[in-house]
Amino acid sequence: MKKNQFDTKLIHEGYKTSEYHGSLTPPLFHTSTYTFPTAQHGEQSFAGERDDFIYSRLGNPTVQILEERMAALEEGEVALAFGSGMAAVSATIFSLISTGDHILCSKGIYGCTYGFLEMLENKFGIEHNFCEMDTEEEIQNLIQENTKVIFIETPINPTMKVIDIEMVVEVAKKNNITVVVDNTFCSPYLQKPLTQGCDIVLHSATKYISGHGDVVAGIVVCKAKELADRMIPIRKDIGAIMSPFDAWLLLRGLKTLAVRMDRQCENAKKVVSFLQSHPMVKEVFYPGDFKSQNYFIASKQMKKGGGVFAFTIDGTKKDTQEFINHLEMIKIAVSLGDTETLVQHPATMTHAVVPKELREKMGITDNMLRMSVGLEAWEDIVADLQQALIKSNSNTVC
Ligand SMILES: Cc1ncc(COP(=O)(O)O)c(C=O)c1O
Repeated sequence: MKKNQFDTKLIHEGYKTSEYHGSLTPPLFHTSTYTFPTAQHGEQSFAGERDDFIYSRLGNPTVQILEERMAALEEGEVALAFGSGMAAVSATIFSLISTGDHILCSKGIYGCTYGFLEMLENKFGIEHNFCEMDTEEEIQNLIQENTKVIFIETPINPTMKVIDIEMVVEVAKKNNITVVVDNTFCSPYLQKPLTQGCDIVLHSATKYISGHGDVVAGIVVCKAKELADRMIPIRKDIGAIMSPFDAWLLLRGLKTLAVRMDRQCENAKKVVSFLQSHPMVKEVFYPGDFKSQNYFIASKQMKKGGGVFAFTIDGTKKDTQEFINHLEMIKIAVSLGDTETLVQHPATMTHAVVPKELREKMGITDNMLRMSVGLEAWEDIVADLQQALIKSNSNTVC
């Protein structure tokens, strides 16, 4: 029987119980190395004449099951697992650029991705530019002869601006440039950039793929095997691999991805509508809101609005920080996609590394907060926000 549906692939893809003594769940191969029956067998394995496991930095059966599942979910040819989302970002970029190349990036990216690009520029002279990516002309004007990669996040962390993937791909293809999409905020359940023409999708699997706040991990999915072939030696030699136990936890997390995200999206809509009607809230940025300027593109490429949004408090940085200090159930923490509702202050946390002037150009103001809605009852999330807003308002008045 062919298992075609996304929800079924989340549970079964890449694993046959009959190959593992009937074990319902994939076994955890907690081993660093693999034994060869003879020296000649080992020689053949190293020469690539046998498809054996050799050493867990090069490959591991539990990790391989996860990779096969992720490749199927994103509809790519090959997936590669990494020790963190940043390992996935850096290996991807390293595999695509050489000295003297240029990277074009969405204006608004995760703070450490920004830090990595800065490091490449300062240490190795690999330059980058930022682009709003609103129109084809704007992208074309910023493409240089040496541009090798267009790197985008959509929705952008934390402003939730949505970029039209198909439009970016169209310009990139005309210029023979590889398009990479960081799909962390959506997961393949909400958005599949490879089906919209991009070449590589990557994830901080720490987020929705895990879903339980207990793993730091990354995944890259390549549309074509050739792209993965360029990345495999980099992963091997830099060594930022995923541990078998983390792969096992991610396989478990993936099984509930669709049901978790459905609930998170529903909860997010309810919380967004509460905040939109509150006088202390200036603006809410949520691509699933039909009044949002991002709604048209979001509804073209995303299944639902997602579980993350940003909002601004009608006040100063101090008022904004005070407000979250009053929260009781909602936790102040970076990361997203977990069962718990989390809130963070991007200007002083995830994007603190971005210089203030650029941060503000990216739309990350001192009164902005990012919230990742969890699986709690939405009424409890709203009640916690309400009591914190009341307390912080009375403090301001005093
Ligand atoms: C959009 C995005 N990409 C990449 C990363 C890096 O992932 P990790 O923390 O797993 O290294 C993050 C982390 O928050 C992120 O939000």
